[in-house]
Amino acid sequence: MNMDQLQEEMLQELEQVTDLKLLNDLRVKYLGKKGLITELNSEIKNVPNEEKKEFGQKVNGLRSLFQSHYDEIKSRLEEEELNQKLASEAIDISLPSTRVYQGAPNILEKLIEEVEEVCMSMGYDVVDGPEIEEDKYNFEMLNIPKGHPARDAQDTFYLEGEEILLRSQTSPVQVRTMLKGKGEVPVRVICPGKTYRRDDDDATHSHQFMQIEGLLVDKDISLSDLKGTIDVIVKKLFGKDVETRFRPSYYQFTEPSVEVDISCFNCKGKGCNICKHTGWITIAGAGVVHPNVLRMSGYDPDVWSGFAFGFGAERMAMLKYDINDLRVFYNTDLREVKHFDRGELENHD
Ligand code: DAH
Repeated sequence: MNMDQLQEEMLQELEQVTDLKLLNDLRVKYLGKKGLITELNSEIKNVPNEEKKEFGQKVNGLRSLFQSHYDEIKSRLEEEELNQKLASEAIDISLPSTRVYQGAPNILEKLIEEVEEVCMSMGYDVVDGPEIEEDKYNFEMLNIPKGHPARDAQDTFYLEGEEILLRSQTSPVQVRTMLKGKGEVPVRVICPGKTYRRDDDDATHSHQFMQIEGLLVDKDISLSDLKGTIDVIVKKLFGKDVETRFRPSYYQFTEPSVEVDISCFNCKGKGCNICKHTGWITIAGAGVVHPNVLRMSGYDPDVWSGFAFGFGAERMAMLKYDINDLRVFYNTDLREVKHFDRGELENHD
């Protein structure tokens, strides 16, 4: 094959190259160790002397022709390959994103935490007590002896005979705390927790519900200390215009005993659905700790006095979030949790 033919064939082949691998194959074919152009070099010895120069120049020309085409094609193919890669790996940022749903805190838990926070700011400790309780703590040491009619309102679930039960109130934690305190003062605790009663579930009753118990024991504690304390808590939860009112009541472990009402935060006392047109809402039972309870738990009632209160957590949350069915807290419908969570966020905006 003469050199002109070789050049023509080479240029044709180069023109048809479509990828880098083929291009490299051509490089081997022409410039490799046994490549066609390389081999021309070794033929130079057979060329007559007077033609050697021209022959050599032609071979070199061929080589640089190949090389310049090769370089150009190579950079074009590399660029194409890169562009293809970029196109295939491209992320379309105009696509709408997949929404990731975030969990929201349970509103009941949120309300309890708010009460805990304000009480802790007044020096209270948050304590726990067992849900499986002894009759002794749930009733007897709270001044409710066996056979007392007050037990009827707190009928609960019994686990073993008549002594072990699911606590019907968080008040036994008062007794447990004082026994642990061994007469030391001040006693200042709140205890949020689950309680149980043999109630049929409906919009305002549940066999399982939550209370937030509070107890303070110190010197010269009176009903007005209780009122001031409760006032701080309700103002934090329901707004600073809300007022507290005590109504006489009866509990076996407090004397005197009161029902705690707050002025309706919704209608400001004018009368609305939430307060059933009375202007007031009952949110807790409370009172001055009965001397018998102090004595049974190791505190001399002639020296020490105290107050106690028990909030219904669901009731407070229902009022605060305008929920009309207690079962909302215990079913697992995320839409409801979301709904109330959003309400909260809006309130804070
Ligand atoms: N334990 C009471 C109940 O379940 C509520 C209560 C009333 C708690 C008065 C108290 C209190 O600490 O002083 O009905």
